[in-house]
Amino acid sequence: MAVVKWRGVIEEYATFLPVPSGSPVITLFEGGTPLLPAPRLSERVGARVFLKIEGANPTGSFKDRGMTMAITKAVAAGAKAVVCASTGNTSASAAAYAARAGLACVVLIPEGHIALGKLAQALVHGAKVLQVRGNFDEALRIVREIGEREPVIVVNSVNPDRIEGQKTGAFEIVDALGDAPEAHCIPVGNAGNITAYWKGYCQYREAGVSTRLPRMLGFQAAGAAPLVLGHPVPAPETVATAIRIGDPASWYGATAAASESGGGIFAVTDDEILSAYRFLAAEESVFCEAASAASVAGLMSVGVPESSTVVCVLTGHGLKDPDLAISQIDVPDPIDADVDAVLSVLDIG
Ligand code: F0G
Repeated sequence: MAVVKWRGVIEEYATFLPVPSGSPVITLFEGGTPLLPAPRLSERVGARVFLKIEGANPTGSFKDRGMTMAITKAVAAGAKAVVCASTGNTSASAAAYAARAGLACVVLIPEGHIALGKLAQALVHGAKVLQVRGNFDEALRIVREIGEREPVIVVNSVNPDRIEGQKTGAFEIVDALGDAPEAHCIPVGNAGNITAYWKGYCQYREAGVSTRLPRMLGFQAAGAAPLVLGHPVPAPETVATAIRIGDPASWYGATAAASESGGGIFAVTDDEILSAYRFLAAEESVFCEAASAASVAGLMSVGVPESSTVVCVLTGHGLKDPDLAISQIDVPDPIDADVDAVLSVLDIG
């Protein structure tokens, strides 16, 4: 049987994406990520749960779906430079795609609050990385102003091309399941991704590819839950640094997705997030980011009707933040290099 090669989300979903013909497609063959059945989680919540493994994207997060679009369009527009604010993943993805396209890339990150792996990615891909003494919301405000004043393209999800690319996650889920799930659980930070997924589900439904729409269940960290509280949070705090955001840019998109779908936006505590994070690694063998585990923490906490089909998006790879992973485990002390020393600490035989 011939192997059909995945060509990246723009080529795969060209009919649903506004890409100018004739301009080069900047892709790292993102998308086409696994939709993995989660038997133990399914048993625990009494539903049929699947995990959308977005850590399998080229830079290890869902951002690549949107970045292929944003950078392809930037090149088509003749741009020379792109800029973004980021809690880490957007900067990693922007740096990689900009390098591929030969564009300069500037990223603003909140000092001391991004995972080491993400910082390393932005640096090795050659972005100019500026650490800002402030949080993500402040960095994004600066970036938006620079975008208005200077000839650079902002590649945060305030750029509609990002949303277009990210909606392909919904297409892949419907393509894999044969229809939309009944519930879709997703972490929410700047709220671009929940907006994008809802757009994707609606478009597939309008095109007759699916017969139903999922309830959109969005989850914010309790210390950074502006959409749950109904007002911005000036000093957001959570262990899930990727979603440490107090004033989401796509506020309206998120609340519309929740209300139009009959879903909601809820808060989960850091303890619930970390417990889901450990559960996923130990029971489902999926090592995701803490922020990603918010979707599963949320599913465990709000629940769904018995036997429903549910998708939880695991937005980024756990290897991005090894410091957090190790902090969650008791690492044994080193021992002498001999057999007896090894056997003496093991409980076998
Ligand atoms: N999960 C991860 C791993 C993320 O990096 C982000 C956002 C989200 C969830 C939330 O998605 O913002 O579309 O609601 N990260 C952005 C960044 C803010 O800069 O990398 P959202």
